[in-house]
Amino acid sequence: MILESAIVIFYILIPAFLPNNIAVIAGGGRPVDGNKKWRENRILGDGKTWRGTIIGALGGLLAGLILNGIQPLLVEFYSFPIFSASALIGLSAGAMIGDIIASFIKRRLDKERGSAFPGLDQLDFLIGAFTLSYIMDSSWLMASISKEMILIAFIITPILHISTNRIGYKLGFKEEPW
Ligand code: CTP
Ligand code: MG
Repeated sequence: MILESAIVIFYILIPAFLPNNIAVIAGGGRPVDGNKKWRENRILGDGKTWRGTIIGALGGLLAGLILNGIQPLLVEFYSFPIFSASALIGLSAGAMIGDIIASFIKRRLDKERGSAFPGLDQLDFLIGAFTLSYIMDSSWLMASISKEMILIAFIITPILHISTNRIGYKLGFKEEPW
């Protein structure tokens, strides 16, 4: 039961997990905040770029469309849902927005770009994805995920995030191992 829930919530969150990782590879160029400061610090900082944000969100969206294409084969094994278009936008764009809000908070707390903020760094995109997918298509979200799955998501996401970031750092994509 728990294993099945973990597998299904992992599947559902693929469009929310991928954007941040894609952004690390695709990022660069113009920062989202246009280099502007608010009070002493940058609004968001150089770690949030238009290219990373847009390609990251589109990558998550595309992954969800591919999953929808193979869902008829996979559903024989586990009860994976079909993503609605608005839920997919909510999951992928929500993940990027959550990560951007976290940078905004970090800058307000005088934390430099790239500094670690344990807890926030690992969960910002998950909270953003759940919130925006709820706003975009609450009936899809309520029908597709249980409370147990939300709990599992909050436990597995930090573990996955820390391990993929370590791999990204070792491979030279990421500047910091967190
Ligand atoms: N990135 C990007 N656009 C985003 C998110 C990430 O271009 N919307 C890229 C940037 O190159 C960034 C890297 O991915 O440096 C790692 O992302 P993240 O850890 O979220 O940013 P940090 O550089 O650590 O900055 P911050 O302290 O603001 O989180
Ligand atoms: Mg970081």
